[in-house]
Amino acid sequence: MNVEDVVEWANNSIFDKTGEHLTPIQEAILMGVWQRQKYPQIAKDFHCSESHVKKEAAKLWEKLREELGEDLNKLNFRSKLEKKYRVSQASQLGHCLLQIDNINIGGQFIQTIEDTKIRSPNPPNSPQNNSQPPIIDLTDAPELTYFYDRTSELSTLKQWILQAHTRLITVYGLSGIGKSAIALKLIEQIQTEFDYIIWLSLTNTPTLLSLQTELKQFFGRSPQPPLPTIIDYFRSSRCLVILDDVQNIFSSSQLAGQYLTGYEDYGKFFKQIATSSHQSCLILLSWEKPREITALEALNRPARTLHLKGLGEQAAEIIREKGLADEEKWSDLIAFYQGHPSWLNIIAATIWELFDGSVSLFLADGTDLFLGDLEPLLESHLERLSDSEKKAFYWLASQDDAVDISHAPADSELSRSQLWQAIQSLARRGLVEKMLVGGRSQFQINPVFKEYIQSK
Ligand SMILES: Nc1ncnc2c1ncn2[C@@H]1O[C@H](COP(=O)(O)OP(=O)(O)OP(=O)(O)O)[C@@H](O)[C@H]1O
Ligand SMILES: [Mg+2]
Repeated sequence: MNVEDVVEWANNSIFDKTGEHLTPIQEAILMGVWQRQKYPQIAKDFHCSESHVKKEAAKLWEKLREELGEDLNKLNFRSKLEKKYRVSQASQLGHCLLQIDNINIGGQFIQTIEDTKIRSPNPPNSPQNNSQPPIIDLTDAPELTYFYDRTSELSTLKQWILQAHTRLITVYGLSGIGKSAIALKLIEQIQTEFDYIIWLSLTNTPTLLSLQTELKQFFGRSPQPPLPTIIDYFRSSRCLVILDDVQNIFSSSQLAGQYLTGYEDYGKFFKQIATSSHQSCLILLSWEKPREITALEALNRPARTLHLKGLGEQAAEIIREKGLADEEKWSDLIAFYQGHPSWLNIIAATIWELFDGSVSLFLADGTDLFLGDLEPLLESHLERLSDSEKKAFYWLASQDDAVDISHAPADSELSRSQLWQAIQSLARRGLVEKMLVGGRSQFQINPVFKEYIQSK
């Protein structure tokens, strides 16, 4: 029984009796208590007071007492539900377990049935079997404050990890688009499925050797005897490793995803993770997609890539949180800044500085897109481009519409193959988008970057 099953069970039980669903805070309380969190931690994660959590928890336990007994409380909730669940699973299997007097024997017997009939798809050391809480190290991770939406991206990632057992996932996208934020949310939602979870940032460009040493030290915290390689740990337990800021091990002034000199062995490591058999998952968060990932995906290896884009209409929550006025204009603001959370946060600060929070006044002119403090962020992406990418990018910025590149354009300085390679690389950085127009692929530059280049 995992945490999602718990929430679903509670929701159904309460709905059957009262016609009401669990409220978001009650869901958070259930998940937190199941994962052995204390009320102050749950309150902190939910951004509310501890007394509010206590009040809501009291209502929740009251609603569940009929199912789990009059003495139900936060301390015995998990054991009571596990016991109830075991008994009902076993009786579904046709065994009259309640007639066994010796609780210990009965318990073991029920466990054996579950292990063979219900839990056999899970590997021997998986947390579902030993129900140990995972060992988690998020020291390197940024703090997650507000988080809105990403429902479909989160369900894609969960499907890849929990159902398809994808071993290597790359989440790539522009700086500030929310890669670290979504990965933190993902950990929150799937942590009980793993034995170990660690977040490591490559900001200081560690060599592969020092990264592997750090990983081994982390895995060595368990009572298991030490294992020789990372893959051995990946085989013996379910490990979730997040490598953040992966673009730092790629070269500037070259096509996307090419390793810095001395860092090429990372490519082999990533390939080994994708192609060897194990029960773990490595997630890479990067501004650009590593080159070998495309080849691994093409070979149908368990490697997947998610290109993270803006938040869409849900970005309105960011604007609401910033307290801006003129709600009828928010969708224009979101469209101009592509629902990009960091860009919207920065522009919201500008709107306060210049127009006291009025979105209408900020957009009144409606002609040029204002970039202001976004410029250094945009520049940090352009600095990384190779010469051929710069030429292709400037050429795309000079076009009015999306372009068909099947024939070499007369006004480009690049040969057809140079142009194709450069555009492919720009797309691997999320700077150029492919779209289908009349059944044909066409490419267009991100409009905010277009504005920036034209303004220079
Ligand atoms: N879904 C979201 N809801 C609300 N705010 C978000 C969301 N995603 C990201 N943000 C905010 O946007 C900012 C940037 O997010 P984040 O650090 O995750 O971006 P990133 O893609 O990891 O950037 P970088 O590549 O520079 O590390 C943060 O302040 C974060 O709180
Ligand atoms: Mg990040």
